[in-house]
Amino acid sequence: MAQAEIGLIGLAVMGANLALNIAEKGFSIAIHNRSAGRIDEVLPQADALKGDMIGCRTPEELVASLKSPRSIIIMVKAGQPVDDVIDQLLPLLAPGDTLIDAGNANFHDTRRRLNRLKPMGFGFIGMGVSGGEEGARHGPSIMVGGTPEEYARLETILQAIAAKFQGDPCVDLMGPDGAGHFVKTVHNGIEYADMQMIAEVYGYLRDQGQLQPKAMAGMFQTWNKGPLKSYLIEITGKILATTDPDTGQPMVDVIEDRAGQKGTGRWTLIEALTLGQSASTIEAAVGARSWSAAKQARLVGEDLLPDPDGETTKQAEQDGEIAISDAELEQALLAAKIIAYSQGFSLLSAADQQYGWDLDLARIAEIWREGCIIRSAMLDDMAAAARSGMPHGHLIFSASFAARLASSVRSLRRFVASSALHGLATPAMSSALAYYDTMRRARGTTNLIQAQRDFFGAHGFERLDGRADQHGPWQGQ
Ligand code: 6PG
Repeated sequence: MAQAEIGLIGLAVMGANLALNIAEKGFSIAIHNRSAGRIDEVLPQADALKGDMIGCRTPEELVASLKSPRSIIIMVKAGQPVDDVIDQLLPLLAPGDTLIDAGNANFHDTRRRLNRLKPMGFGFIGMGVSGGEEGARHGPSIMVGGTPEEYARLETILQAIAAKFQGDPCVDLMGPDGAGHFVKTVHNGIEYADMQMIAEVYGYLRDQGQLQPKAMAGMFQTWNKGPLKSYLIEITGKILATTDPDTGQPMVDVIEDRAGQKGTGRWTLIEALTLGQSASTIEAAVGARSWSAAKQARLVGEDLLPDPDGETTKQAEQDGEIAISDAELEQALLAAKIIAYSQGFSLLSAADQQYGWDLDLARIAEIWREGCIIRSAMLDDMAAAARSGMPHGHLIFSASFAARLASSVRSLRRFVASSALHGLATPAMSSALAYYDTMRRARGTTNLIQAQRDFFGAHGFERLDGRADQHGPWQGQ
């Protein structure tokens, strides 16, 4: 009876595809889903695959089908459903068995679950899986959180199913407890920023350039052959080239501009702020999705607040029109993207210090080179930069990326300036620039904020000569 090497519970799109991927690589897998109909849909798809797939109607059947010690992947909606599955399985398991949560869990939940299961003798792995439906089926990027022993037991299967970058499987142990899910959360935060920045460039081309989506598609296809080469640029080119079969309009033109979010972007921010960081590009991207949801208010705003177009056209002549070439747009996006990734790496570095995970930033960049949503040609260079040491944990300070920014940031400046003059919102690109300009100046402006704090609250300040806890002789106090 006990024959399968691994089990999987939860056969929604990601779970089913991951199970098929495992079977395709020759491993036997036992699958279970709360509604049995789904098992019947998935099983026949495995008929031609190398590994056996065993459909189990109950958790008991699943547990009985597995070789001991058992490894069971849980691929259900993040949150309470994961706890429900754990509760169901616990009475059926034996010490030494390992549960693997492969959903987009909040890493605090992963730590909590581990603290519950560990004293009972069970293993618990928090595993971030990126790559969407296609990735799960043909090769995702996998970020594992657990012990080296737990990882060693799964390594063969995970390396077989993961995406490969020049033969190197895009999977590794990130660190203990919540490290895998935390790295996946930051991945998603960067994903949010990257998507928002691409959308801002699209908005500029549409509203300022008056370009049709099909014309933009060509630009994105060209960019995908250069330094911007990445999955998100590639799919944007394809999206912009797609026509709506119902109306004959470009597909993007018939989609409501209201974006949802499941939580990982927001969690990235919450963690960043808790760690005293500000991943401002990610913050801007999450905020932009929230603003997008306020569609009714924006409809009112469009009537109430003046359209800057007429005003800026006149004004633009006085201000000096900024004409942005396609090549500059490419460079602007490149600069902003580097800054967003840099913020992501800084956040990983801060969390690493807080939680003592011993994260290998270079390895993380390597794991992201293929399979995941933020895969990009630049990640190989980012891995190299991280390997040779990034001053103060900042990618933008590494020699290679500092040089890339030196040649591209002027385009970002001109893009942000032009967008502002034309009344086009570019929250993520603007915040990338603000961050860059902050980080390249040793003396900022918080000396005045310190003075204000001292004026109204006697909070004290440190003087340039090193004397701490000083107070000002404020005029008119
Ligand atoms: C991935 C994706 C995937 C999913 C996220 C984002 O890495 O494969 O990040 O996990 O798309 O859940 O979803 P939201 O945009 O809905 O937050």
